[in-house]
Amino acid sequence: MSNLMDKAVEAIGKGGYGTALTGAGISAESGIPTYRDPGNLYDQYDQGKQGGMLGVLMTNPEKAPEILSTFFNKLQEAKPNTGHIGLVELEKMGLLKSVITQNVDGLHRLAGNSKVLELHGSIYRMLCTVCGIKKQMEQNDLFAIADEIPNKLGTITSITEIMTGILPPCSCGGPQRFDFVSFGESVQELNEAVLDVTSCSWMLIVGTSGVVHPAATLPTYAKNNDAFLIEINPKESDLTSQCDIFLKGSAGQVVPELVNALKKAGVGNK
Ligand code: APR
Repeated sequence: MSNLMDKAVEAIGKGGYGTALTGAGISAESGIPTYRDPGNLYDQYDQGKQGGMLGVLMTNPEKAPEILSTFFNKLQEAKPNTGHIGLVELEKMGLLKSVITQNVDGLHRLAGNSKVLELHGSIYRMLCTVCGIKKQMEQNDLFAIADEIPNKLGTITSITEIMTGILPPCSCGGPQRFDFVSFGESVQELNEAVLDVTSCSWMLIVGTSGVVHPAATLPTYAKNNDAFLIEINPKESDLTSQCDIFLKGSAGQVVPELVNALKKAGVGNK
């Protein structure tokens, strides 16, 4: 590992800026289970494999209140871990320009990164289905709403019901939904993400299986523009073969190790 870590430090030390692409794995050590690891959501409710969280809910309607309540309970207890905080350090050191995430859990923002591109949206935002206005929610507001899920949701019969049955109506009177992206919908902030990855010198890929596009295409764009790709994951992913370096291990352990190695080598602002 130390030889690989040295190579990562050398690549980052060459200058330019970096971007990070993150997935569910970076939040695993905050207590939020990933989707596809053994024993998690897709394993338990395998009919949902093609449809993401909403697919799982639709194929298991009687379980929807329980699945959603469990998710919100874990979210309520979750705090940014040393992996998230390591990415904030990289930004403060003047090395990392943006975090591009597939996660909807808001933990990168909470940790303090200033440019977080949430490709799959955020559970902390509401979107009015009539006037289109988006509203950011405070954590307490979201969790007060989430506490009511078992009362508000009986047996689910449609995706619309899941999306709009939980949130209060907008001030215009229209139903509001969570502003996260479900399968088949366009991802958010993609143009900005493409701009960053096509001009970065290096990319950190942390905790993603790399199977969901277009997020999983971003490393290819970076690579085609000569970026150096560094992956951090306990297991090889669909992106590993494209990466220049694979740092095997958990985000909470390896991201801080990388930060320390960079500091030791004098790379970045103090
Ligand atoms: N640190 C780093 N990586 C980890 C850790 C950890 N502690 N624990 C697990 N991982 C890795 C796994 O090895 C796996 O590669 O995180 C990855 C999790 O993969 P997925 O569950 O597929 O999550 P993700 O890649 O984010 O999924 C993409 O799929 O269902 C959709 O919209 C949903 O955004 C999600 C998208």
